[in-house]
Order: sequence, then structure tokens, then C-alpha cells
Amino acid sequence: MAAVLGIGNATLDIIHLVDHYPDENDEVRCCSRLQRCGGNTANTLIVLSQLGVDCRWAGTLAGNAEGRLVADGLTRYGIDISAAEWADAGCMPVSSVILSKQSGSRTITHFRDLPEYGFAAFTAIDLQPFDWLHFEGRNVANVRQMLAAVRQGSPLLRCSLEVEKPREDIESLFPLVDVLLFSRHYARSQGFSEPQALLRSVHAVCPRVDLFCAWGEAGAAALDRDGREYRNAAVTPAKVVDTLGAGDTFNAGIVSGYLEGMDIEVLLARACQLAGNKCGQEGLDGLTF
Ligand code: ADP
Ligand code: FRU
Repeated sequence: MAAVLGIGNATLDIIHLVDHYPDENDEVRCCSRLQRCGGNTANTLIVLSQLGVDCRWAGTLAGNAEGRLVADGLTRYGIDISAAEWADAGCMPVSSVILSKQSGSRTITHFRDLPEYGFAAFTAIDLQPFDWLHFEGRNVANVRQMLAAVRQGSPLLRCSLEVEKPREDIESLFPLVDVLLFSRHYARSQGFSEPQALLRSVHAVCPRVDLFCAWGEAGAAALDRDGREYRNAAVTPAKVVDTLGAGDTFNAGIVSGYLEGMDIEVLLARACQLAGNKCGQEGLDGLTF
């Protein structure tokens, strides 16, 4: 069984399902309200573990009931949380999500007040059992140290980095990984209106990295280290019911494809299939290709 270490966030997601997205200052009744573990890296690992990958999570948990709830959420999927840091200060990051039944859109307000996962905790992890490390593109200064240490100590260990939001100096991490997973949000923040243009500009400065960019209902694009370009349409489900975590699922699809030794064209198509399946179902439970 392949083994992946994911370094990044787990959050408490409080999801309010509504018939349709409300107007500002409206008062609407929710169809349902549920709480579960979310967060980009946590979601990616939840999907990977259900695809048969052995997963460990490295991130920070608040040492209170909310932290334990998120910890239980991860362990329920068989994800090893032994590398987690339990913080005395702060509270769990919380996302209040409005999920629209009508469109499947997910509107997120996010609150964070928790210490970041530190370099010292990362260096305590034995990386020998892992086939892949997946990093979230945040906590940039610490992640740069982690990646530099991996490059020095385990130069053959493959690493992916999710780049969802523009953050100061995040570009300094790009040459340190094998695979970059960009979001539409990041591409737009850099002035690009289509994924290939972002990928070409990154390839010009990071020629040894495989590049991917998801683009919502327009599917996704890739540009490999040899300069070959790929494009895949979205796989639209019969009804789009829940897009929360579609990007995290897409990333899991890409990583699992590499672990299975697939060509980029094939793994890109499979990741779009998996993310499309996710949009057609509520939550991440039981998700497969
Ligand atoms: P995020 O969840 O980070 O906003 P995206 O919206 O870019 O991510 O979606 C990631 C992937 O999920 C897309 O590349 C696409 O394959 C799939 N996807 C997203 N929205 C839809 C949709 N409405 N229909 C089908 N597939 C979708
Ligand atoms: C979805 C998600 C949610 C989380 C939020 C954090 O991509 O990971 O589960 O609350 O994004 O930004």
C-alpha cells in the first residue's frame, strides 16, 4: 500500500444546507446543519485513504473538544494523526459554509486563530515509510524549511504543493517540489484568465516541475516538465449537489494517479472524474472513480 504524509490544515466545517443562496440581510431556514472535519489537506487525505492509500496527517489541533472532534473525524477514515501538534493556545479553525441545494455552490467564511505547524515537529517525523509528501501552500516560512530539509535528506521522495491562495513568498516554494497544484483563484490573482497561461508562465521559471490548474466547471489543465500541455473537461454529474472540497478531491486524484504510475493525460482525466463524482454527492464518504 502506498503511503502519503499530508502537511497542512484540518478545520471544523459547520455546513448549513439551504434551498438557495440567500440575499444579504435575509433570514432563511436551513434544511440541515452538520459539523465535520474539513480543511484542504485533511480533505485530500480523506479522499486518498478511501482510495486505499495509507495516510498520515501533520498539522495543528486545538487541545479542546473541537480539536478532539476534528481528530476523531480524521481517525474515522483511518488517517494516522500521531504527527499532529496539540496547541494549548487558540482554537480550531472554523469554516461556516452555506451550501446551496439549488446550485451546489459553497460559500465559506473562515476563522483562524491557531498556531502554525512548526518545523521542529516536522523534523521529528521519520519520512522513510512515505512514498509521497503533500504540502498545503500556507505557513510559507516553515514549509520552505520543511521542503529544504526533505530535498537534502530524502532527495528522491516526491512532493506536491497545493497553491490555492496568493501568499507572500509562496513562489519561493515552487522549485522545491515535483508537482504544483494551482487553483483558479490563484491564477486569477496573478492576472491570468485561463489555466494554461498561468502554467506556461510558471514553467518558464520552474522547468523541472509538473504543473496542474483546476478551473471549476471548466475542468483542468496540466503542463508537464517536458513542456507538454494537457486539457481535460469537467465531468459533470447528473446534478451538482455539493462542490465543497472539489479542489481538494481533484488534488487527491492527481496524487493517487502518480502513486499508481499513470501518465499525466490519464491521471488528469481521472482526477476530473473523481472531482466530478464529488460534486454529484454530498460530502466525501464513499467517493471513488
Ligand atoms: P475548488 O474546490 O478549490 O474551488 P474547483 O472549483 O476549481 O476547486 O474544482 C476542482 C475540480 O472539480 C475541477 O477541476 C473540476 O474537475 C471539478 N469541478 C468543480 N466544479 C464542478 C462542476 N460544477 N461540475 C463538474 N466538475 C466540477
Ligand atoms: C474546502 C475546504 C473546507 C475548509 C476550507 C478551508 O476546500 O478545505 O473543508 O473549511 O476549505 O479554507
